[in-house]
Amino acid sequence: METLPPPRMRVAPSILSADFGSLSEAVDEVTPGTTWLHVDVMDGHFVPNLTIGPPVVASLREHTDLYFDTHLMITDPAGFLEAFRDAGSDGCTVHVEVGHTGELIAQMRELGLRVGLAANPDTPFEAVEPYLDQVDLILCMTVFPGFGGQSFIADVMPKVKEVRTAADRAGLTLDVEVDGGIDRSTVVEAARSGANVFVAGSAVFGRAHPLAAVEDILRAAVETVAVDPP
Ligand code: DX5
Ligand code: ZN
Repeated sequence: METLPPPRMRVAPSILSADFGSLSEAVDEVTPGTTWLHVDVMDGHFVPNLTIGPPVVASLREHTDLYFDTHLMITDPAGFLEAFRDAGSDGCTVHVEVGHTGELIAQMRELGLRVGLAANPDTPFEAVEPYLDQVDLILCMTVFPGFGGQSFIADVMPKVKEVRTAADRAGLTLDVEVDGGIDRSTVVEAARSGANVFVAGSAVFGRAHPLAAVEDILRAAVETVAVDPP
């Protein structure tokens, strides 16, 4: 099997662990080290926590040109996709567990959003497999969604490998994203398994030097793949 060149490695800092009272300063701190920002949207229903909605995205959009990687941990994405697009989200990721996946993908395409599909740690590869050629990004959750600062679940790595292998086999340059418990040490296993987008919240905004933390995580991922390609 011919292996495709690995897609670009990125760290997507998650603002969930930033100071919500000064989000724009948090964004400025990491901007020299990344082009993506991970925006966690929670509805208190799909996950037991509440965060932000389109108005906050719109305010941040006024402030930065970073790519907004919008992770929708919500039961009814269909009712909000247009609002996030209008607010300035570049890509949206919906969870396969909420159902209506084909329709949601079509709606995101229609809106001009980059399309992501997420799977919880206990959701098998087979749930996302039928959609690999219809999406731009597969997000393999490495914690159960809802809160920052949880521990990385290494048992998800075989699924990350399955996604990357299937994408390579089909000739798809898919972003494979991991989210939850990523730091400079756990990123090594994720990169080795074929992930190329690494969401990090507490390992970035929970540190004294968020920019240095982003650069450390990215360096660890890039070095891993250089030495030991997936
Ligand atoms: C969890 C969120 C994550 C969270 C990750 O439900 O989807 O994006 O911010 O936080 P850390 O990196 O602290 O695990
Ligand atoms: Zn997230």
